[in-house]
Amino acid sequence: MSYTFPVTRNPNPKPKPDPNGLAFGKQFTDHMFVMDYDEGQGWHDGKIVPYGDILISPASSVLHYAQMMFEGMKAYKTEDGHIQLFRPEMNARRLNRTNERICMPPMDEELFVSAVKATVKEDADWVPDAPFTSLYIRPFIIADDPALGVKSAQHYRFMIILCPSGPYYAENRGKLSTTRIFVEDEYIRAAHGGTGYAKVGGNYAGSLRASQKAHECGCNDVLWLDAIEHKYIEEVGSSNAFFMIGDEVVTAPLAGTILPGITRDSVLTLLKEWGVPHSERKVSIDEVIDAAKKGELKEAFASGTAAVISPMGLLHYLGEEYTINNREVGALSQKIYDTITGIQTGKIPDTRGWVQRVV
Ligand SMILES: Cc1ncc(COP(=O)(O)O)c(C=O)c1O
Repeated sequence: MSYTFPVTRNPNPKPKPDPNGLAFGKQFTDHMFVMDYDEGQGWHDGKIVPYGDILISPASSVLHYAQMMFEGMKAYKTEDGHIQLFRPEMNARRLNRTNERICMPPMDEELFVSAVKATVKEDADWVPDAPFTSLYIRPFIIADDPALGVKSAQHYRFMIILCPSGPYYAENRGKLSTTRIFVEDEYIRAAHGGTGYAKVGGNYAGSLRASQKAHECGCNDVLWLDAIEHKYIEEVGSSNAFFMIGDEVVTAPLAGTILPGITRDSVLTLLKEWGVPHSERKVSIDEVIDAAKKGELKEAFASGTAAVISPMGLLHYLGEEYTINNREVGALSQKIYDTITGIQTGKIPDTRGWVQRVV
């Protein structure tokens, strides 16, 4: 089924920001997508309208019980001026897994992808092309019943907003460099049976205290450990985590507590194709620290839509600091970064059907 949406053009388009000074997620484009869901009617009346504030009841369920979800993806400009998305059907699939977990209605995957494409197309001239920049796409759904009972809502709003964005970590402005990562040994992000695998706002609210601790220690982000033993690696901030110990690249398995990253899946695919030994297995922080002490922790990196491939240069754990690869970007991290961004921006041919063109 193909979808089209009416467009109300913004009569007051904003000046475009300087592509070389873009931060992450702070400036928004001229348009946004809005669509309602009502029980009995399903998703209806999707449309593109001028970007702006929305009116919401103070009793709206999302404001009280956080029944909401979001996705994160990007649009990239190619050298010959096309705009493309990276594996958007995977975001649609993940959206439905999240929705199922928090009792939100499912959405036809094609409806989701069509809405994203139509919105990006409308603001195509906002997609920046400077190195390390892209158009970040934030689809989200909020429960919107004006009622205080704790139950799933009957009315929802789906929206897509867009922001021209620079690097997620300021360290990566101009060139790929390494981050400092705080290993959190007190707070946890997700437990088995919880919402760790779902992209819900509450997961991120619960992470803020640890981020604050990380920043107090001069670190960029948090490496989470498991909820039971505070021992096994989970993920980093809003990315998945990979460690190269000896010749093996390891990452935590998808066991319900970490987000199944689309970048993670892409990295695993590349490692497999390249014949790099790798496994999805439980990795304890002791194993990582021991490897760092013995000089066997060759590389570590975070993978995510926002962070792309962000090599880690230092781990801060229980008051001690452990450097990785002399705080330099490792060869494998660089190769994965170059390959993924190359495919996203059309410099490397897409042989896996990962890219979808918008215009
Ligand atoms: C908690 C968390 N883990 C991992 C990821 C990486 O997922 P993806 O590669 O799909 O962006 C994200 C970002 O969406 C995230 O928020």
